Amino acid sequence: AQPVVDLSDNVLTARLPSGDAVTVYLYGATVTSWKTANGEEQLFVSQAAALDGSKPIRGGIPLVFPVFGPPPKSHATGQLAQHGFARNSYWEFLGKSSSESQGRKADNSVKLDFGLSSSMLDEAVRRKWPYEFGLVYSVTLEKNSLECQLHVQNKGDQPFDFQALFHTYLAVKDISKTAVKGLQSSPYVDKVRSAQTFTESSPSLTFSSETDRVYTPPSLKDNTLVPLVVTEDGAERFVVTRDGLPDVTVWNGWVDKIKAMGDFEPKDGWKRYLCIEPGTVSSWTRLEAGDAWEGTCAFESKL
Ligand code: BG6
Repeated sequence: AQPVVDLSDNVLTARLPSGDAVTVYLYGATVTSWKTANGEEQLFVSQAAALDGSKPIRGGIPLVFPVFGPPPKSHATGQLAQHGFARNSYWEFLGKSSSESQGRKADNSVKLDFGLSSSMLDEAVRRKWPYEFGLVYSVTLEKNSLECQLHVQNKGDQPFDFQALFHTYLAVKDISKTAVKGLQSSPYVDKVRSAQTFTESSPSLTFSSETDRVYTPPSLKDNTLVPLVVTEDGAERFVVTRDGLPDVTVWNGWVDKIKAMGDFEPKDGWKRYLCIEPGTVSSWTRLEAGDAWEGTCAFESKL
């Protein structure tokens, strides 16, 4: 048996013979569903998420590029919307492939490639950020895992600065029983406490109020990054690995922030998601004319 891939009405679905499946909207190249073979949904999507291209999809994995958060007014991205334009532009599907070369069995993995380039942007957005770029976003589905890779190329004749992030809404059963390991001694900027910088003291970060932090954990001697482990009731639930993505935003809006979000339903849904967002957002990545950059993260489900 081979993976089955279908694209209709701008929604792509792929299913492996094992039963693992993924759904990606061309709008934002947003992954809106990732199910493991047991049928269990791994991502949280709001029941009120707009799926008609009128605003970024609330949940799944919206892609953040070329700026994270509200753009600094004096920066080249200053005229763009919060989190940039990748999550609310239409991408094209470039094709699927199955690679044995990466140690995967061809029939039990599928790689889906999506593209967005400057010429595809709305004219108004293009004027606000007039750089020539090409993005290739690869989503690879394997048994119990989903890998996300973003390739950014500067196709113009002048450098540009960017940030990028995978805004992943992981589905959890109960946020009060959820914890994140692997952040101890990492510096972080706490957006809930006036964007001051702190150092994480806990080996296992737990949640009891609004949390909105950008962690920049030090890399290991061999330059690799420590995997993060999301636990539920003490048991491993997700393992998150990263390559080329030094920062991780950890976000849960809790009661009040979620109440104020018109596209977040049900209102007690804050209990059932945790955003773990690998990215490069604590500084700017400069890409010279003709240069390329790549960042990868992978989510492994332990259910
Ligand atoms: C997180 C930010 O990544 O995204 C939060 O750290 C923000 O500050 C959240 O509230 C949601 O952003 P948006 O634009 O999708 O409402």
